[in-house]
Amino acid sequence: MEFLETISVEDYQKLHLEVGWKYLDNKVIEKSLANSTFIVSVREMGETIGMGRIVGDGIAHGLLTDVIVSPKWQHKGIGKAIVENLKNRLQDFVNSNGDEYLLELLPTANNVEFYTRCGFKHLPENMEGCYKWFKNQNIYNKETQKHIMRLQKAPFENIKNKTKTIEMRLNDEKRSHIKKGDIIIFLLQENYEQAIKTRVKEIHKFKDFEELYMQFDKTQIGYKESEEANPLDMEQYYNKAQIDKYGVVGIEIEVLD
Ligand SMILES: CC(C)(COP(=O)(O)OP(=O)(O)OC[C@H]1O[C@@H](n2cnc3c(N)ncnc32)[C@H](O)[C@@H]1OP(=O)(O)O)[C@@H](O)C(=O)NCCC(=O)NCCS
Repeated sequence: MEFLETISVEDYQKLHLEVGWKYLDNKVIEKSLANSTFIVSVREMGETIGMGRIVGDGIAHGLLTDVIVSPKWQHKGIGKAIVENLKNRLQDFVNSNGDEYLLELLPTANNVEFYTRCGFKHLPENMEGCYKWFKNQNIYNKETQKHIMRLQKAPFENIKNKTKTIEMRLNDEKRSHIKKGDIIIFLLQENYEQAIKTRVKEIHKFKDFEELYMQFDKTQIGYKESEEANPLDMEQYYNKAQIDKYGVVGIEIEVLD
């Protein structure tokens, strides 16, 4: 197992998605990582399986954040080793450059014990943590939600070059929460570094893909002019029983540059 003092944007995104955390723009993450005080990532057989970092003013006050161990590697002492690595490096730094340094963190409720086992005090002097997210108001309002969808290369490229404007999915429990104005981030399968940020312009619901295909021009749903658009093509993704149960949805999107 190898401990590195950096992490790539792609590995950062991969770990965050693996534990179901928020997805942020690649360019935002790139800058955020560059501004970190300390980063650690853990590699095993060429794969990044964990990370953690400290962000802050670089001399007296910081936040321990993004402590993640890939689910299949959890409960093996790796999380603790990540925190120990950061604590040791911070201690060395304070010994040679600082006076006193306050390292804080906001544990999710079921992880408090993990951090107390890593040597942190919980609720010292009856303090409690508070937080607030600040969102770009040009993109988000109170109701806006962000959704992640993975795509293969061809549809990904068609959305990117703005020919495909309708994403077709089963209208199952997950998709039925998507609404006009929401943000959808399309990720290229197996390559988390490539992403397209889009906004939902309209939601079009249909009984099945036959109905949906009749409604739109074939280029809008991802075919080339030279190709034949056949609703049966969707059977490689969804079977008839699923379609009968949930119906289908055409999510009309616009690419946000
Ligand atoms: C929290 C997380 C980083 C722990 O990583 P891990 O590699 O599984 O933890 P470790 O195996 O190093 O555990 C270290 C110690 O904490 C304990 N521990 C770990 N998770 C715990 C939990 N949720 N509740 C109670 N104890 C826990 C372990 O039993 C172990 O105890 P020991 O030192 O007495 O043996 C990991 O579960 C994770 O990535 N979770 C999802 C992301 C997340 O929630 N991160 C924390 C955000 S606040």
